[in-house]
Amino acid sequence: MSKKKPLVVVTRKLPAVVETRMRELFDAKLNIDDKPMSPAALVEAVKTADVLVPTVTDKIDAAIIAQAGDQLRLIANFGNGVDNIDVASAVQRGITVTNTPGVLTDDTADMTIALILAVARRIAEGARVIPDDDWAGWSPTWMLGRRITGKRLGIVGMGRIGQAVAKRAAAFGLSIHYHNRRRVDPRIEEKLDATYWDSLDQMLARMDIVSVNCPHTPATYHLLSARRLKLMKPDAILVNTARGEVVDETALARMLEAGELAGAGLDVFESEPAVNPRLLKLARQHKVVVLPHMGSATHEGRADMGEKVIVNIKTFMDGHKPPDRVLPSML
Ligand code: 8YV
Repeated sequence: MSKKKPLVVVTRKLPAVVETRMRELFDAKLNIDDKPMSPAALVEAVKTADVLVPTVTDKIDAAIIAQAGDQLRLIANFGNGVDNIDVASAVQRGITVTNTPGVLTDDTADMTIALILAVARRIAEGARVIPDDDWAGWSPTWMLGRRITGKRLGIVGMGRIGQAVAKRAAAFGLSIHYHNRRRVDPRIEEKLDATYWDSLDQMLARMDIVSVNCPHTPATYHLLSARRLKLMKPDAILVNTARGEVVDETALARMLEAGELAGAGLDVFESEPAVNPRLLKLARQHKVVVLPHMGSATHEGRADMGEKVIVNIKTFMDGHKPPDRVLPSML
């Protein structure tokens, strides 16, 4: 007799190849319309599902987890960051949590470099000129940006993505500096030619470009606080492809408005999909480049993320430890 397939509730529409495979393997309840699920719908899901597959747009907090039925055994996040899930509450209730690390590293690092270039070389602003019929012709003093070769890049968070950013940045002639809660292996430091700063404050004060690449956890909430942002050089730029919550956005907007920081490139925001109106205004004035959380948005990346979710579910359902289990102690 065949074993009953687990009921897997997926909160958002996933690539067709992933959904097809999920249908084959599981009793998959898919979100064909891709309408984000309301908190009430999420409660309904955790009451019935054996496995929940949420994304960054679903807040699986303690209140929702408290209403989960005993059948819910696994939350297999479609995403690397797990700040949308109260992992401690889940684990306390005996629910395993997994994520999708590794497969979005290169894409997110590429987007980080793209944002550095976009801000320093005014790419987003320049790309508007011709379509807006605003080009009067070349001029030696017009549209000048900042050279990145020879500048100092400070990476906040030297995990997989931070290291992938470092590797790319070296090819652009940037010198690599980093702050991380733990110093990385000396062999990695050597390979990346990266200088470790124990003091984030001291690093920030000396960098030309700062890239945020750490996860959002209680410890990194507003890590780049108003006080720390003020330590940055006025001609420095800030790029964030990690999580909006790591940067005090209001303080950042204030500094950009006052010309106390040269520019910023943001792919993530504190209250997505809402964007701080002051940042929006600055974006319209081309003082900040804003992207709609698309750091890992590639066809290949999404398919790989889906594959990881499937492997995590399948391994778990087969009675083994899933490869990408997240424990509260890792956060
Ligand atoms: C994803 C991300 O698009 O995986 C992450 O942590 O930030 C994004 O790149 C999103 O989280 C999917 O849930």
